Amino acid sequence: MTLQNKKVFEIYRWSPESGGKPYMKRYEVSLSDCGPMVLDALIKIKNEVDSTLSFRRSCREGICGSCAMNIEGTNTLACIKKIPDGNEPLKIYPLPHMYVVRDLVPDLTNFYAQYKSIEPWIKKKTKVVDSEQLQSTSQRSLLDGLYECILCACCSTSCPSYWWNGDRYLGPAVLLQAYRWIADSRDEYTKERLRSLNDAFKLYRCHTIMNCSKTCPKNLNPGKAIAEIKKRISLFS
Ligand code: SF4
Ligand code: SF4
Ligand code: FES
Repeated sequence: MTLQNKKVFEIYRWSPESGGKPYMKRYEVSLSDCGPMVLDALIKIKNEVDSTLSFRRSCREGICGSCAMNIEGTNTLACIKKIPDGNEPLKIYPLPHMYVVRDLVPDLTNFYAQYKSIEPWIKKKTKVVDSEQLQSTSQRSLLDGLYECILCACCSTSCPSYWWNGDRYLGPAVLLQAYRWIADSRDEYTKERLRSLNDAFKLYRCHTIMNCSKTCPKNLNPGKAIAEIKKRISLFS
């Protein structure tokens, strides 16, 4: 059967059971009865053509961060990436330089352990008497550009320093999150947080290449957050 208005997708496939080398598998999708986003096409392939294709997704509106993958050479979210026009096959890979669980599913174990290591919650030294902790408008505005991070890992997996030193360098996503708590007026462990980040590997593997800020699908600027951490450290040390 010849598909009308078709688009070819070439998708990275690998499963631990097969044990073989990864390969690219070609799928033809009719765009006439497919939603406009890359995730729509992946779901259509899984539902109608090949149920063995594995990928993560949940919200389908750029909120959960689970559908992060490399599409046409750029790390992005499949649910908010439009299927491009044109006859060129669309190549889709898992996030780069990560271990692969299967197909488009990266192993984020190290990424989440690094996130946990920065203690992503408000820490207090004074006794909390009121469960509501107020901020002024200007204090709250310092969190803009930080709280929106959905931990999709697109930035970290685009960072050459993270590719080579991901076991010890925290990477842009986790450093942006670290800065989110440093910048929070309600947190009372700012100095301790900065002291813990003042490390040749955890922080200073960032060489300001800025791939991270270029790729972020939420238009955030992790490179700037990293620069702010370095500035704060230089001010107090
Ligand atoms: S900074 Fe952007 S790219 Fe990085 S994890 Fe957060 S949302 Fe994803
Ligand atoms: S600015 Fe730093 S964190 Fe961002 S891509 Fe470059 S080296 Fe990586
Ligand atoms: S499915 Fe949630 S961000 Fe794409």
